[in-house]
Amino acid sequence: LPDPDVAVLTRGDLDLMLPRPGQETDKYRRGVLGVAAGSDLYTGAAVLAVGGALRAGAGMVRYAGTEPPVTQVRAHWPEAVITLLDRPSIENVGRVQAWVLGPGLGTGDWAHELAAGVLASDVPVLIDADGLTLVAKDKELLRRSAPVLITPHAGELARLIGADRGDIEAARLKYVRAAAAELGVTVLLKGSTTVVAEDSRPTRVNVTGTPWLASGGTGDVLSGMAGALLAQGLSCYDAASCGAYLHGLAGRRAAGGAPLAAADVAAAVPDAIRSITGGS
Ligand code: APR
Ligand code: MG
Repeated sequence: LPDPDVAVLTRGDLDLMLPRPGQETDKYRRGVLGVAAGSDLYTGAAVLAVGGALRAGAGMVRYAGTEPPVTQVRAHWPEAVITLLDRPSIENVGRVQAWVLGPGLGTGDWAHELAAGVLASDVPVLIDADGLTLVAKDKELLRRSAPVLITPHAGELARLIGADRGDIEAARLKYVRAAAAELGVTVLLKGSTTVVAEDSRPTRVNVTGTPWLASGGTGDVLSGMAGALLAQGLSCYDAASCGAYLHGLAGRRAAGGAPLAAADVAAAVPDAIRSITGGS
C-alpha cells in the first residue's frame, strides 16, 4: 500500500518551488552563500561545492579557507569572493544568507573551531561530510536556533545517530524520520534514491538520479546546490527537495548513459533548471 506520508517529487513540485530572479533583483537579494569547505589535503571538495552553488543560482558565493583550497577555488571559479583564513574564524567573511559547512573540511581542531563559528551564526547552515563527523563527535554544535539541513549518506547518518549502517539501508524511511525528529533538523539522506525528512512534514523521495552519480565528489556538488537554494530563501525542506531533484536530473544529463565526473554534474545544472523553467 502507498504510504500517505511519502511524496515522490515531480516536475510540477519543482516548478512551484524553484526560485526565479525578480525583474528588479540584484546579486545580494538573489542570495549570498558562504562556503566553509576544503582543506590543505582536500581542495577539490571546495571547488565542487562552490561550483554547485554558482550553477544553482546563488547571487554570490563567499568562499573561506586556507591557502591550498583558496588557490584552487580561485583558479576554477573567479566568480567566488574569497576570504583567506589565517585562523579558523568567519569574522572577516562578510554577510551571507546561508552556509555550506563540511565537504573536505577535515575533522581536527581547526575544522572544529571553524564549524563552531559557522554554527554560531544566525543563518541556515547545511552540514555535510566532515561537518557531520564533527557534529557526531560534538552534538553541542547543533544547539542553535537558526535552521539546520544535514545531507548524510547512510554511513554518515549511522555515525550521527549511533545506528548500524545496514539497518539504515534496510529501513531508510524509518531512520531518516527518526533522525529528523531526534536531532530537530531537516535530513536529506543520499543513496540510489534520496529521501528528505522533516518533523511533521510528508517525507519526500527523489528518483531523478542515476547510478552514474555514484562517483567521488558528486555529493559535494549537491551540497553547494542545496546551499545556494537555502541562500535564495527556500526552507531547508524545499532547498533539500529542489537540490536533490535538480542534482539527479543534472547527473542524468551529464551522464547520458556513460560515466561522469562530479564537475560535469555542476556544469549540467543550468540545463536541468532550464527543463523546469522552459528557458524563460
Ligand atoms: N543511484 C543514484 N544516485 C546515487 C547512487 C545511485 N546508485 N549512488 C550515489 N548516488 C548519489 C547520491 O544520492 C549522492 O547525491 O551520488 C551522490 C554521492 O554523494 P556522497 O555519498 O556524499 O559521495 P561523495 O560525493 O563521493 O562524497 C565525497 O564526502 O561523504 C564524504 O566519504 C565521502 O569522502 C567522500 C566525500
Ligand atoms: Mg559526501
